[in-house]
Amino acid sequence: MTHTITLIPGDGIGQEVIPAARDVLAALDLPLTFQTADAGFGTFERRGSALPDETIATCTASDAILFGATSSPMHKVEGYRSPILMLRRHFDLYANLRPAVGVSPGGAPVDLLVVRENTEGLYSGRERVEDDGMTAIAERVITAQASARIVRTACDWARKRRGRLTIVHKANVLKETCGLFRQTAFAVTGDFHDLEIEEMLVDTAAMRLVMEPDRFDVIVTTNLFGDILSDLAAGLTGGLGTAPSANVGEQRPGVFEPVHGSAPDIAGQGKADPRAAILSAAMLLEDLGYAVAARALREACAATRHADHTADTTARVIDHLRQALPTARG
Ligand code: IPM
Ligand code: MN
Repeated sequence: MTHTITLIPGDGIGQEVIPAARDVLAALDLPLTFQTADAGFGTFERRGSALPDETIATCTASDAILFGATSSPMHKVEGYRSPILMLRRHFDLYANLRPAVGVSPGGAPVDLLVVRENTEGLYSGRERVEDDGMTAIAERVITAQASARIVRTACDWARKRRGRLTIVHKANVLKETCGLFRQTAFAVTGDFHDLEIEEMLVDTAAMRLVMEPDRFDVIVTTNLFGDILSDLAAGLTGGLGTAPSANVGEQRPGVFEPVHGSAPDIAGQGKADPRAAILSAAMLLEDLGYAVAARALREACAATRHADHTADTTARVIDHLRQALPTARG
C-alpha cells in the first residue's frame, strides 16, 4: 500500500524546510508518494485565497499533510485567515501534540508533551471592535465536548509515556471558561485510575517549566495557553529549530508542522534549520504506522547539529540515515 503525502511549503522558510524534509523522507525508501499544494499569504496575494479549494481537495485525497509555515500579518487583512487555523478546523484536528525533548539550559533532562486544544478557546475567531473604536473584545469559547476529547487524548498519551498528567488552566480568574475546562478534565480523568493527575495554574506552570522541567510528562491545556507553553518548552530544549508538532483528530489526514513560523528575517538565505520540519515528518511517519522509520529519523536528527545551512544539515541527516539503513525501513 502506498501513502500519499501532501506537502504545503507555504511562506518564508517553509519553502526551504519542507523540500528538505521531503528529501529526507524520500531517502527512507518507503512507499510514499508526494504532491504539493499552495497555501499562505503569498497564495492569498496571488490568488485571493489563502487556502484555495483545490488545496483542500488535494489534502482530502491524501493520508497526511506536511505543512511548512505561513505568514500572518499583525493587522486585519480583509478576507485573510491563517490557513493552518482553517486546516485544523476543516479536518477537525482537535489535538495539537507538541513534544519537547532535550536538556534544559540548567542541565535538567526534558521529555514532555504539550497536548494543546486546537479548535476553540481564544482562537475561535470571535473578535470585534466596538463602534467607538476604543474597545476590542475577544470571546473565549470553551465547550465540555472539546475539553473532554482533548483531555482523553492527553490521558491516552500519558498512559503510553510516564503516566503523569498536568491539567493547566487559570480557573481562579476565568471561572466560567477555565472552570468548565477544569471540571470536564477531572470528570474525564476519573476513568484513568492508573495515572498521576495534578492541576496547575498556567502562570505557575510557566515558572515551573523553567525551574523544574523534568517534573513534567504530559501537559494538557486550552488553545492559547498551549500555544505559549509549547514555545516555552521548545525554548527549554534548544529553540524552535528542533520543535515539531502534529495536529490530529479522529480521522486522517493529520497536519504535521514545525512549531516555528515563516521567519521572514532569514527566509530566502538557505539558513533555516530543517530539523523541526524533519522531526514533524517523523511524527507523520509514526501516524502512518512507520514506527521504525520514525525512530530512525529522530535518531538522525539527534545526532546532527545544524550546519548553518539548510542543505548541509539535510545532507548530514540523510548520511546518518544511510548508515542506519536498511533497518530504518518499515
Ligand atoms: C503555531 C502558530 C499558529 C498558532 C499561528 C501561526 C496561527 O503560532 O502553530 O503555534 O498560534 O497556532
Ligand atoms: Mn505558536
